[in-house]
Amino acid sequence: MAAKRGVRGLLRGGFGRARPSTPAGIRATGRRTARVIAVAAQKGGVGKTTTTVNLACALARPPHGLRVLLVDIDPQGHVASSLRDSIHPGRVSLSDILLAERPRDLMEAVVETDIDDLAATPPDKQLNDTDAQLSSRVGREYILQSAMVNARSHFDVILIDCPPNLGNLTLNALVSADEVLVPCDMSILAFEGVADLLATIETVNVRLRQQLDVLGVLRTRVDRRTTQINDAIEQALEHNYGDLLLDTEIPINSALAKAQAAGLSIFQFQPRARGARAYTALAAEVAERLGLASAAPAVANR
Ligand SMILES: Nc1ncnc2c1ncn2[C@@H]1O[C@H](COP(=O)(O)OP(=O)(O)O)[C@@H](O)[C@H]1O
Ligand SMILES: [Mg+2]
Repeated sequence: MAAKRGVRGLLRGGFGRARPSTPAGIRATGRRTARVIAVAAQKGGVGKTTTTVNLACALARPPHGLRVLLVDIDPQGHVASSLRDSIHPGRVSLSDILLAERPRDLMEAVVETDIDDLAATPPDKQLNDTDAQLSSRVGREYILQSAMVNARSHFDVILIDCPPNLGNLTLNALVSADEVLVPCDMSILAFEGVADLLATIETVNVRLRQQLDVLGVLRTRVDRRTTQINDAIEQALEHNYGDLLLDTEIPINSALAKAQAAGLSIFQFQPRARGARAYTALAAEVAERLGLASAAPAVANR
């Protein structure tokens, strides 16, 4: 009877009156279980953003057709500029979520893009300040992780584009992630940066009790014409990282840079470019490593 009275009371009062007691930010739970991949490297210019954006688009396209979320936690906002034709401004920013006094849901900030099955966080000019402000917050490394719980149920893959440093934003990305994808161009500085990042991942796992895995080290901007430098870095990568090296490599391809400048993914800009084939192959390899592979055959990279 009490339960019936409760329902009747609710009906009399109207559902609208019941709403204020629902905590802000609680959203419907989905049925998916996303794998979260942080794309990180301490050096800038190694192809983090190009990889995050084009891998996200490739995973959302056939044959994978996965539901993908792009999270841009880099204050430079290059994800939004790389896809400015398809990503539109949102009302809630990542900074609003990260700096909120009470826990908020990342889904509040997520906007759909014009690309099928791809959602994103909108550009956020405040993220630089946010990194500094996070320093005084208790449990600052865990804010994105807890805000992302619901988003994990709405997507198959969540890709986070990290800044080229190890500040609070990158730490939030690493703590939220299951896997780290490490782009490395064929330069000594990028090569040395891989070791630093792997050491950071170990520190995060030990001190912050996480279970981050390395999805792989990705050779980017590979120019087969500069053989000597390539060979030296290649040998050093193989010697040091062996199994961690992904089979797919991304060649230097001006269409990738032109697509980024035009605000389009390589698949929108020039779907037959070598860069498009390379990111299609990377998506197949990543899906395979994550156990999300579709039955369709992958397109060869080389
Ligand atoms: N494989 C590639 N071939 C040619 N240009 C590339 C390639 N990957 C990235 N670029 C270009 O290099 C620059 C740096 O790449 P970006 O992805 O923004 O690096 P990061 O995010 O690591 O700073 C951009 O201008 C981008 O368009
Ligand atoms: Mg970038």
